[in-house]
Amino acid sequence: MQLLAVQAADEARHVEVFTRRALLKRDCLGLSTVGGQASLKTLVDEPDFAIASFLLSVMGEGTFLTLLRFLERHAPEPVTRAMTRLAANDEARHVAFGVAHLRESAKSNPALLDKLAHSVHRRHDALRHTAGLNQEVLDALTLLAAGAWDHDALREGSCRVTQLIHDMDIGRRTQLCRIGFEENQAAALSGLHTRNLM
Ligand SMILES: [Fe+2]
Repeated sequence: MQLLAVQAADEARHVEVFTRRALLKRDCLGLSTVGGQASLKTLVDEPDFAIASFLLSVMGEGTFLTLLRFLERHAPEPVTRAMTRLAANDEARHVAFGVAHLRESAKSNPALLDKLAHSVHRRHDALRHTAGLNQEVLDALTLLAAGAWDHDALREGSCRVTQLIHDMDIGRRTQLCRIGFEENQAAALSGLHTRNLM
């Protein structure tokens, strides 16, 4: 309970700081997609703690951890670098707890792994008609990683975003193996993670 309370406080801080950063040079926030909202809703609607913790802390936050490290590396100014570094430190704790909790639970109840694997398939099916990651997000990541508007820089930025998606997959597979999945299972489950990254 205490750990979850700390996690909720961390997330509230992230919402505040990222909202302030997003509004620093514009008057209103960008839009989230229907697909992104549907993806988050599947987490809120999940009644089983182990499954919710798996989908959120291992698959979702595990993926975001890679994203935050990427943002820290390519952020154009020191404040954004500090924000993303601090948020990544928080997220690393959330992922570590989720992985440790599920690894221990799976040791005493091996059937849990099947249940978790099933939850990934179920969520993938529920979201298969949604559009995935908003192109504006990919464009923004590309520009950020490029650091400039010229053709060569944008091509480099695009390569870095492709590498980011690959690194996210590697990160998820690593965490899945830590929980107790075999490497081939981990690869298959990671491939079914939501296209909007959450
Ligand atoms: Fe988190």
